[in-house]
Order: sequence, then C-alpha cells, then structure tokens
Amino acid sequence: MIGAPNLLEKIMDLGIQGKKALMAGGSAGMGRATAERLAEAGVDLYISARREERLVAAAKEMSERHGISVTPIVADSSTEDGRRALFAACPDPDILAITIKPPAPNGNFLNVTPDMWRSSIETTLVGPIEIMRNYIPGMKERKWGRIVNIATFSAKNPMIWRLLSGPARSALLNYTASVSREIAPHGVLINNVLPGMFRTEGFDENIEPYADAFGLEPDQETCLAHFMEHNQIPAGFLAEADDLAPMAALLCSSLSRFIVGQNIVIDGGQHQSIF
Ligand SMILES: NC(=O)c1ccc[n+]([C@@H]2O[C@H](COP(=O)([O-])OP(=O)(O)OC[C@H]3O[C@@H](n4cnc5c(N)ncnc54)[C@H](OP(=O)(O)O)[C@@H]3O)[C@@H](O)[C@H]2O)c1
Repeated sequence: MIGAPNLLEKIMDLGIQGKKALMAGGSAGMGRATAERLAEAGVDLYISARREERLVAAAKEMSERHGISVTPIVADSSTEDGRRALFAACPDPDILAITIKPPAPNGNFLNVTPDMWRSSIETTLVGPIEIMRNYIPGMKERKWGRIVNIATFSAKNPMIWRLLSGPARSALLNYTASVSREIAPHGVLINNVLPGMFRTEGFDENIEPYADAFGLEPDQETCLAHFMEHNQIPAGFLAEADDLAPMAALLCSSLSRFIVGQNIVIDGGQHQSIF
C-alpha cells in the first residue's frame, strides 16, 4: 500500500505544502506510511529511526517518488543523546509526528520487573514528552504547529500481554489532554491516533516474543492463528500501515484547526466503547 496514490490529497488540499515536517520513527510501519502521506502533501520532510540502512533507503525512495527533500536522522528517540541528535538536525518543524516502539509483549504479569517498567516509561512516555517539550515553544512563537502521537489503542483498551505498552501510553494521553488545551490558543494542536492490530514490520518482529509470552511454537502460522482467535476484530482483518496514515496526515494538516486533544482509535472496531 505504501506509495499508492493518496486519495486524501486528491480529495482535499491538506494546506501544508512547503511546511517542515518531522516524522520521528519514519522508516517503517505506520510512521513510514504517515511520512508518505505528508510527502505527497508537499512538505519538507525529516524522518528519524535507530537503524540507519532502512532509514536512508526510505528517505531516498520518498524523495525520488515525491520530488521533495527528505532528510534522514539516525536517532533513538528514547535516549537523551538520540533526542539531542534529532533536535540538532531538525530544530524547527511545523509538523511533528512521533512513534516509538515499546518493549515486547510481556508474559505472566508477575514477571514484569521494575527495569521493564522503566524501559516502557522511557520509550513510550518520556521519549514523546521530551520531543514535544522541545518543539512546542518554537511552534507557539510561530503561531502554528501540529503534533500527532501514534500510540496504541491499548492505552484505552487494557490488555494483559501489553502491560509494557498500554499503561505508559494512558499516561501520555493524560499528559496530552492537559497540554493540548494549554497551547491550543497559540495555534499549536496535539492529537493522538491509537492503532489496533496492524501487520507492519514491527508486528512481524514481535511474533517471536508473542510466542514466548503465550508459550507457543514461534512459527508465523501458529502465532497468527492464536492472535486472530484472541483478538476479535469486527472489520475481520489485520490492518495495513496505510489504514492509519490518512487520519494521521489529516491531523497534521491545516484542516484540523478545531481538533484539540483527541484520541482517535483506528482498530477495525475491536475496542468497544461509545467515547
Ligand atoms: N503494529 C501493531 O499492531 C500495533 C498495535 C498497537 C500499537 N502499535 C503502536 O504503533 C506504533 C507504530 O507501530 P508499527 O507497527 O508501525 O512499528 P514499526 O513497523 O516497528 O515502525 C516503527 C518505526 O519507528 C522507528 N522507531 C521505533 N522505535 C524508535 C526509537 N526508539 N527511536 C527512533 N525511532 C524508532 C522504527 O525504526 P527503527 O526500529 O530502526 O528505530 C520504525 O521506523 C508503535 O508505537 C506501536 O507500539 C502498533
């Protein structure tokens, strides 16, 4: 799906041509798909990730495909050094989208240690907060900014095997609920998209730890069958990265100016709630 014609941009002008966008976590999965949608809207794009080879290849592909500048930044968003590299390479984005991989699925909850909690909090809570905290003052000064966190629906839909992803992201939603109201008067908006089950590169990397957590044979077929049985998805399929990207791009656009502090679940109907 990545690189398919962007119907969203064909239907409506996102109004962000020429703006500077940073997709932190943009070399694969939903971050990459979101970066593609932003590239199609004509932004000046920066993408970051930890693994250099895939990152540089993604930047080159996007730059060639969309005829825009795409700057790769090798940086781990969960560390201070990594964030320093990010801020130095891209000091003043108008648009900031963030995604960070949390620790792998946990097994028995009694085996989750303080170190595992610290790692979850450093990656999925402190990382995004510190990146936002760095960029918000500049966005406020320029009186325009869009921030989107690609987090997880398990922030609203607790799952016993996702303790190292959901709880810290619930805290991230709490933080953004407050901060988004504080900065909205300056034209700077924060919203979050909360994915359910997506077949991405990151999903495939989690198959082995998932097998470990549930005591399964680590082959794809067994794990996927177990996964689909235990995750009832009314839409009936595992999503692709591009099933989320148009919504993330819309929230990054000029069209979202009245959308403040929202958490948009994209999960094929798996999480049942009215609000
Ligand atoms: N896939 C699902 O079913 C699912 C379900 C619920 C929630 N989510 C959440 O959705 C988000 C995106 O997931 P995905 O499946 O699209 O992941 P993915 O395929 O692994 O892509 C993640 C992207 O972010 C980069 N990244 C990860 N950790 C980073 C870090 N510490 N610093 C800088 N870059 C980092 C990755 O590159 P490098 O690895 O090279 O750094 C990659 O470019 C994650 O937060 C995940 O928890 C996913």
